[in-house]
Amino acid sequence: MNFGCGKGSFIAKLAVQNPNINYLAIDIKSEVLGLAKRNIEKEYLEAKREIDNVLLTAYEIEIIQNILNQKDLVDRIYINFCNPWPKPRHNKKRLTHPKQLEKYKIFLKQDRRNIL
Ligand SMILES: C[S@@+](CC[C@H](N)C(=O)[O-])C[C@H]1O[C@@H](n2cnc3c(N)ncnc32)[C@H](O)[C@@H]1O
Repeated sequence: MNFGCGKGSFIAKLAVQNPNINYLAIDIKSEVLGLAKRNIEKEYLEAKREIDNVLLTAYEIEIIQNILNQKDLVDRIYINFCNPWPKPRHNKKRLTHPKQLEKYKIFLKQDRRNIL
């Protein structure tokens, strides 16, 4: 999983280097997902590979528990440079806020949950 994937440069490289792992990259902004799609296509073209292990979707990660559950058995979640939301009244929106981390535990593999 790559939450808040933005323009997708990170997930594009990671996914092309790890053909045996499936990735889901999510961002709330469909306009950045357009750029992410192009970045992924470029990486796979250069590697002469078909895109077969990465999906992009637009979704609000604050309600991620509505589309992922304990049957999903997620290995890893990458969150790079999330929006800092520095004002105290906004900081619950940060993708690494403890309230958010509790939600992620629901769909992480059991042995991964205590890392959070
Ligand atoms: C600072 S950017 C970092 C983008 C990328 N991870 C990188 O390292 O270049 C944060 C990204 O998280 C996305 N984001 C922030 N809050 C989100 C939320 N609640 N649900 C989905 N995406 C979110 C933003 O749209 C933005 O693309």
